[in-house]
Amino acid sequence: MTVSGAVRASAPAKINLRLGVGPLRPDGFHPLGTVYLALDWRDHVTARPADDWSVEVATSVPGRVALDQVPTTGDNLALRAARLLADQAGVSDPVAVRIDKQIPVAGGLAGGSADAAAALVACDRLWRLGTSPADLLALAAELGSDVPFALVGGAALGVGRGERVTPLPVGGRLWWVVLPDAAGLSTPAVYAEYDRLVVEGAIRPVGVDVPTGLPAALASGDPHALSAYLVNDLAAPATSLRPELADRLATGAAAGALAPLLSGSGPTCLFLCDSRRRADAVVRALATRGLPGALVSSGPTPGAVGSVEELPA
Ligand code: C5P
Repeated sequence: MTVSGAVRASAPAKINLRLGVGPLRPDGFHPLGTVYLALDWRDHVTARPADDWSVEVATSVPGRVALDQVPTTGDNLALRAARLLADQAGVSDPVAVRIDKQIPVAGGLAGGSADAAAALVACDRLWRLGTSPADLLALAAELGSDVPFALVGGAALGVGRGERVTPLPVGGRLWWVVLPDAAGLSTPAVYAEYDRLVVEGAIRPVGVDVPTGLPAALASGDPHALSAYLVNDLAAPATSLRPELADRLATGAAAGALAPLLSGSGPTCLFLCDSRRRADAVVRALATRGLPGALVSSGPTPGAVGSVEELPA
């Protein structure tokens, strides 16, 4: 039985507090040892019964989200998620998917993965499937390496290609300055550059082992303790493709943040701060140093599971 109205769900942006990357696997992916944190920027996905499958995309923050970079065909990850769940469950009722985006596109914040996770839980409710958490995680992993984390949210250790997630406790709210970049970066291109730099011997990745001090620092909620563990093996290849990222990261560090960090495969830059007030000051300092457009965000926040709302017909 299908819900008569529409169903809406949401999922968060993610950052990687540590992104350790191992050597390329035969399947074209890289093994990861990562610690994810969900930030309070969310995409909302609404699924509504319709005569045909479709997707439309909108945003209330056009300065942050480049809508023209989001596919609105069958390649759209939210639409693929809805169709995958339908195939798996033997559902033949199409849905119209609407995505309200807050998460920048192609920024290393897993916005597409958030859309897929939100679409999975929205359609699961719309079609009254009651899919088990383990089955939802398996479908999420088929859709993309970051999609399982977007389901669970909070903070988590990620292994495999990032799709095997184990929740981690966080002792307090962590404040970040987020500096998006309108141009975006292609994740496969950054991984390919990583491979090239490793073969050349130009970089020494930290690799997939996550130090035990990192979960402990996260559990303490102390941003000073956590700042010592922030590292991203994709920072070197992303900076090789976009040299201006090195200056941006250094500028944030000089502007009063505890530590700079590239988000995922970039080009979004992140700056960990020890309070909301400090984060606001770093935003102003970045603007006076020629880097306007930074925003404050915080985490952890919940994943898509549990975000479901039924809307009237
Ligand atoms: O899993 P996802 O679809 O997000 O991956 C996009 C691309 O990023 C992959 O096709 C691959 O090129 C690269 N990738 C990788 N290793 C990972 C995750 C992603 O090489 N662990």
